[in-house]
Amino acid sequence: MRVLSGIQPTGRFHWGNYFGAIQQYIELQDEDESYYFIANLHALTTIRDRELLRQLTLDAAIDLLALGLDPNRANLFAQSDIPEVSELCWLLLSGTSMGLLERCVSFKDKKARGIQANVGLFTYPVLMSADILAYDADVVPVGEDQLQHIEVCRDLAMSFNHQFGDVFTLPKGKVLADSAKVPGTDGEKMSKSYNNTLELFEAPKPQRKKIMRITTDSRPMEEPKPDYEDDTLFQLYRLVATESECAEMAELYQRGGFGYGEVKKAVADAADRYFAEPRARREELAAHPERVREILADGANVARKKAGDVLLRAQQACGVK
Ligand code: ADP
Ligand code: TRP
Repeated sequence: MRVLSGIQPTGRFHWGNYFGAIQQYIELQDEDESYYFIANLHALTTIRDRELLRQLTLDAAIDLLALGLDPNRANLFAQSDIPEVSELCWLLLSGTSMGLLERCVSFKDKKARGIQANVGLFTYPVLMSADILAYDADVVPVGEDQLQHIEVCRDLAMSFNHQFGDVFTLPKGKVLADSAKVPGTDGEKMSKSYNNTLELFEAPKPQRKKIMRITTDSRPMEEPKPDYEDDTLFQLYRLVATESECAEMAELYQRGGFGYGEVKKAVADAADRYFAEPRARREELAAHPERVREILADGANVARKKAGDVLLRAQQACGVK
């Protein structure tokens, strides 16, 4: 089985990215073959500052490695190092209907929020499809919001196969069952666009301050809170605490007689502990960026070879080679 996923370097990673997506990548790296890339071409639809994009791309690679992605088991590379993918993207674009892309929720959402749409944003799912099809990926671990794009990819692959023969492998999306939505500090879905994130590698002190400012309800301390599973703090705690700590916390909520300040402190303590090891690994990697660049170059070598084979297959099938 071949696993592939990509993540955009549009900001520093937050808990939502980790528990909703990155954690799954890392769990799946032991499959026969795995490909993980930093989607810097996708990021270009929003980031227009070259130094920032370079820095965020390197930071993303460092973060993934620090969080446990092992370059001896997985291929890690930058999307822009595989030009074959952009070429494949054109072959797919030529057969993509406008309607299919107009129906994509992520595009519709951005438009609705008044974000000026460029053509890159509109065709985003087609580049994403090329990313996936270029490596004959079987499984694509993603956050729930990306499932529609995987469906687009399957549609495009089926239609190409239908017209030109059996060229592309049909991929499947894979979402972690309980990862659906990590709440942000305001209780809404955590997202950098909502400015409510807890960054993975923020210094412990400012992170603790953010946690202490998380919005809570105004029910009196003594009141039991049997609906603890809906509580933002509890949902965050569950991600970083041990099972027995969670069970104790659930009891406390059901009993009542506690202040949210206590829970916030518990969340911050558990987070410090949970991320201590990756934090130390990150510092070590950040001190040796040349090693990280080497890892990306090695990953790109493997990825280019595979993408080259698939591109040739597609070019021959549609008659441009
Ligand atoms: P953001 O919303 O901060 O811009 P991205 O859209 O770049 O984050 O998301 C990258 C990956 O992380 C996606 O696969 C997405 O599904 C996942 N993800 C982002 N935020 C969350 C969240 N709050 N809960 C679960 N998964 C998330
Ligand atoms: N669109 C994905 C996201 O925002 C990133 C991405 C780009 C991707 N290409 C991909 C994910 C291919 C999986 C497969 O999270």
